[in-house]
Amino acid sequence: MGAHDDGRTRAWEAAGRAAAALVADGDRVGLGTGRAAAAGIRALGRRVADGLTCVGVPTSQASQALARELAIPLARMREPVDIAFDGADLVVPSGLTIKGAGGALVRERIVDGSAGRFLVLVDAPKISTTLDAWGVLPIAVVPFAVQHVAVELPDLAPVRRPGRSDDQLAIVDLTVPAGSDWEVLDARVRAVPGVVDTGLFRVRTEHVFVGAPDGSVTTLAEYPLPA
Ligand code: A5P
Repeated sequence: MGAHDDGRTRAWEAAGRAAAALVADGDRVGLGTGRAAAAGIRALGRRVADGLTCVGVPTSQASQALARELAIPLARMREPVDIAFDGADLVVPSGLTIKGAGGALVRERIVDGSAGRFLVLVDAPKISTTLDAWGVLPIAVVPFAVQHVAVELPDLAPVRRPGRSDDQLAIVDLTVPAGSDWEVLDARVRAVPGVVDTGLFRVRTEHVFVGAPDGSVTTLAEYPLPA
């Protein structure tokens, strides 16, 4: 791992620590998926080792395995969680967010979407003025319908990823033409039978934690916007 990657890891760790610090005794905690979420899970594990009482609800088998290793008590998804933290692929100043590079978007929607507070853990390269900077909308599709969905959305150049999600769904990446209205496009995609969910989320900017390699954390609400 190069110096640049070390810096990003430190930034995600900073955001993860800030999120884990907000978990209160007795909380049900949504545990996100990906590198930044893993940093948060490790920080939560340290708090549990120090005596914090909480229960984690993981958004993927990978996060479940990590939480188990760290002896964080786990529960299934049932009632809403009090707080959740998770990564993102790109966030814009309005709070529109792309998730799903890790393929866990359906469980993330269920768990993170139920949270009293949903914290998003990112670093500076993941903040942009436009979602076009990412340009890809991942969707989860019932495997039976993959080809049907492709026929319905030919302008979005659907590419199916190998394998299946934890829920045995196919993950398909759509290429979004620059200048598109992502919310309009998202509604069109969701209307295709067989599409279970998409990676477009809306989050509160004060709940987006932007970590920096020096260990500091700024929320998106107070973040100096990229030019
Ligand atoms: C998982 O499906 C995703 O939503 C991740 O949360 C997202 O891709 C960010 O992952 P990293 O923190 O690994 O970049």
